[in-house]
Amino acid sequence: MTILIGQPADHQLVSQVEDQNLSSKAIETNELVLDGGFVVPKDIISSNEFIAPEINSFGHTFRDYNAESERQKTVEEFYRLNHINQTYDFVKKMREEYGKLDKVEMSIWECCELLNEVVDDSDPDLDEPQIEHLLQTAEAIRKDYPDEDWLHLTALIHDLGKVLLLPSFGGLPQWAVVGDTHPLGCAFDESIVHHKYFKDNPDFHNSDYNTKYGIYPKECGLDNVVISWGHDDYMYLVAKENGTTLPSAALFIIRYHSFYPLHRSGAYTHLMNKEDRENLKWLKIFNKYDLYSKSKVRIDVEKVKPYYLSLIEKYFPAKLRW
Ligand SMILES: [Fe+2]
Ligand SMILES: [Fe+2]
Repeated sequence: MTILIGQPADHQLVSQVEDQNLSSKAIETNELVLDGGFVVPKDIISSNEFIAPEINSFGHTFRDYNAESERQKTVEEFYRLNHINQTYDFVKKMREEYGKLDKVEMSIWECCELLNEVVDDSDPDLDEPQIEHLLQTAEAIRKDYPDEDWLHLTALIHDLGKVLLLPSFGGLPQWAVVGDTHPLGCAFDESIVHHKYFKDNPDFHNSDYNTKYGIYPKECGLDNVVISWGHDDYMYLVAKENGTTLPSAALFIIRYHSFYPLHRSGAYTHLMNKEDRENLKWLKIFNKYDLYSKSKVRIDVEKVKPYYLSLIEKYFPAKLRW
């Protein structure tokens, strides 16, 4: 099984990524960045690929330039598909299907290793296992918040939902797994990246769904809001349905860490309740650390593993249904 994962040619860009996900921030600043969470479709790559000279007349590599414009096209295509296909009905269906948790049974650590394999297999530019990136985030937070052990574990597990890309989890297309998320059932906020593509989404023309509040009462709480389907919501379902004892702030981080319109642009605050506003403070702290998740700080996995296994034991059952 080979799953192709896009990586920036320019490693300086990597540190600007706010998440393992494709970040809308990168798009708006024209620093187009893909990372380990973003799967580049093979057909897009192969259909546009051509052999270029290594160095142009200015001494720059053509390959970097081409890679950059290819990435821009790929990212835009990604959001076009995402915005057209993520409808209220689609998300309802996915939540129902994946809420059954009948795909696999495994521990949290086994899932870390599974995700590790996938990214390792597929990523020619990633010179460290994916688990190190998860641990880099976790260890960075641990250093600054030594007493918040729940936050260390949250950092470790927040991206595990990306296993949705694997055939054994249904092999979902990238637009249903990664990228920024947004609410359904109410108007698409202008701050959502590549907003123009929503015009081809049936919900855009549905008068029940295309007003500011749509189907939701004022300050109803995000828990009652349907958010576009991806690795965030899936991992939230897995954690909650398996009876995790992690605090609500942890579940909030897992569930909304790709919800950039909320935590970066401040959109949709009219749907938040008091608890959401409290939890948002932790999400903003978390996101700062996720930014550095691809730093070059090497982590000795075997050395820190016992600590994280003890946290997993504290907050999760030995085996989870996925
Ligand atoms: Fe992440
Ligand atoms: Fe993520």
